[in-house]
Amino acid sequence: KIVPVILSGGSGTRLWPMSRPEMPKQMLALTADETMLQLTAGRAFGDRFAAPIVVANARHADLVEQQLTEAGATPQALILEPIGRNTAPAIALAAIAAGGGGDALLVMPSDHVIGDVAAFHAAIEAAMPLVTQGWLVTFGIAPDAPETGYGWIQIGDELQPGVNRVARFVEKPPLDKAQSMLASGDHAWNGGIFLFLADAYLEALAQFDPGILTATQEAMDKARTEGARIYPDAVAFAASPDESIDYAVMEKADRVAVVPVAMGWNDVGSWDALHAISETDSDGNAHRSHGDGNVLAIDTKNCFVRSDGVRVSLVGVEDLIVVASGNDVLIMPRGRSQEVKKLIEAMKTIA
Ligand code: GDD
Ligand code: MG
Repeated sequence: KIVPVILSGGSGTRLWPMSRPEMPKQMLALTADETMLQLTAGRAFGDRFAAPIVVANARHADLVEQQLTEAGATPQALILEPIGRNTAPAIALAAIAAGGGGDALLVMPSDHVIGDVAAFHAAIEAAMPLVTQGWLVTFGIAPDAPETGYGWIQIGDELQPGVNRVARFVEKPPLDKAQSMLASGDHAWNGGIFLFLADAYLEALAQFDPGILTATQEAMDKARTEGARIYPDAVAFAASPDESIDYAVMEKADRVAVVPVAMGWNDVGSWDALHAISETDSDGNAHRSHGDGNVLAIDTKNCFVRSDGVRVSLVGVEDLIVVASGNDVLIMPRGRSQEVKKLIEAMKTIA
């Protein structure tokens, strides 16, 4: 069986004020009644998949466990990091917990939307023959913008039906490079979802970033377990380099393949992105309120309004994003939601 590995360590600051350090994006019900984490677990469920291994920050242990149990996806292992060391070490912990052998790991971020799960499953099956031969496989999304926050993959020769060699992997390129890769027509975005054997990944780490391997191995050797909970040793883990899998392994490894797939992928990286995939009424408004009737809009067009508490009322406005959560209210024109990052920075300096 394929072992789902769910990464739940990011904080998703661009979705402030709903996403916060204590309640990050993946634990919110942003696109459906289920949280992003629950939707992720539900995508790798059934006969083909084992119970997931989940890697999260220790501070979220109860929340993660509660959400997964509620979704019927109780993890076989819940690895609780004392601090974040980015995705390469997080995945190493999971690969070691899986026994480091010939199990295929399906590594998934916990904060994405996949509209067409059948297409996702078909892409996984297309990849499996190469995975069992030790290839590292990623999933390629057709790009429609010069995104600098993604990894870019140059699609090489076809290795198997629907699976191509990765000619080049470029993580988070500068804008001019992203523009030329978009124009080239032979590039895809890295979807951030990976499929490989546990030992293939650990061998790649040994080759390209051995410091991550030794630190995570020691952290797991000295780990404390409590039922399904695994607490890697804090001192050993802190010694690991802070690196993403994209920089540590995918840019460097040789036997890397990509499955180009159209599966309604969206990484919901901003309020604008969420607006774009939300259902809207006949005036183009998207509002999803927690608890009935806390959003009221009259003569309002193309607005995105969200509140988890206070009632928000709008009259005669267009193209606004309004988000109320706790004691915070965010108001901005559509199209500027990347600037929430600036707000977070500004708040740090006044706090
Ligand atoms: N457990 C754990 N620990 N999880 C982590 C950590 C960590 O230290 N850091 C990040 N994660 C989780 C995040 O919660 C998210 O689900 C996933 O790993 C990816 O991390 P991001 O920080 O969101 O990565 P990114 O968006 O900058 O880039 C990745 O995703 C893009 C697509 O969304 C890369 O893989 C890009 O190449 C890719 O295009
Ligand atoms: Mg991301």
